[in-house]
Amino acid sequence: MTIEIIPSGESLSATIAGVNLATVSATDVETVVQALGRYGVIRFPRQILSAVELKNFSAHLGELEINVIGAFQEPGHPEIMTLSNIVENGKPIGLGDAGQSWHSDMSYSNVIAFANVLHALKVPVRDGKTLGATEFCDMCAAYDDLPESIKAQLQGKTILHDFNKYWDMMRRKPGNTRPALTEQQRKSKPPVSHSAVHIHPISHRKSLYANPGYAVRFNELPEAESDELLQFLFEHQTREKYRYVFRWQIGDVLIWDNLRTIHQAVADYGADEHRLMKRCQVMATRYFPLPE
Ligand code: SIN
Repeated sequence: MTIEIIPSGESLSATIAGVNLATVSATDVETVVQALGRYGVIRFPRQILSAVELKNFSAHLGELEINVIGAFQEPGHPEIMTLSNIVENGKPIGLGDAGQSWHSDMSYSNVIAFANVLHALKVPVRDGKTLGATEFCDMCAAYDDLPESIKAQLQGKTILHDFNKYWDMMRRKPGNTRPALTEQQRKSKPPVSHSAVHIHPISHRKSLYANPGYAVRFNELPEAESDELLQFLFEHQTREKYRYVFRWQIGDVLIWDNLRTIHQAVADYGADEHRLMKRCQVMATRYFPLPE
């Protein structure tokens, strides 16, 4: 089978046609990984996959995360999570507000995320317009554009990332129903530090590793200086010029590279306009192994 890679023409994203993710070969997986390193966001249209097939494909990309919230998981397959605003018999079937603010997945974790894999099963459409897009920003381009003085300041610096920051921020949004984290959930995800800049393991480009969702402070700077630098980076990294908007179609599988991008889900649809995704998160252990 020939894999055809069609770049979007923007700094991020390509479509890969001619591949059935349920039966993907090792050679195809390597092509996908290289394409992900190059384009940051890859779409596979018209995929007919069970949740387990989605998991099996995702596992080719690396070790899979079991999400700390421990809910909305596929029975027997906790690595697969349902993201949805659908309520059945008074109960939500998935996490309804997942990702609705700028972040990079699992930057709050010692083992950070390499890729997210989402399969769209229901996509809201109003008056012929698709809603519930996912927006991305390119952190290699954002790094390249930084003033030299900021690049020098970032050198050797680490940023503290905290799962609670994002969770609490979502809870403060009007109408949000996320419960407070339990003591055990908080303890299982204590704040962690990562380099402010990564050398991307596939493209070898420098990538800014900060995000408004989880980054709380520079460890090496006094608080006021840290706040100022983070604020500057949050504004810089989310500028329009680094953005790519992905509009879903049913059957799309989208993979994105969390070492190269930050993202947010756009909450522009109502309670009766259903969005349903299955998600697997691939950890970056193949590139950033934890010390023994
Ligand atoms: C996520 O942040 O993992 C979910 C993004 C989305 O649902 O578009």
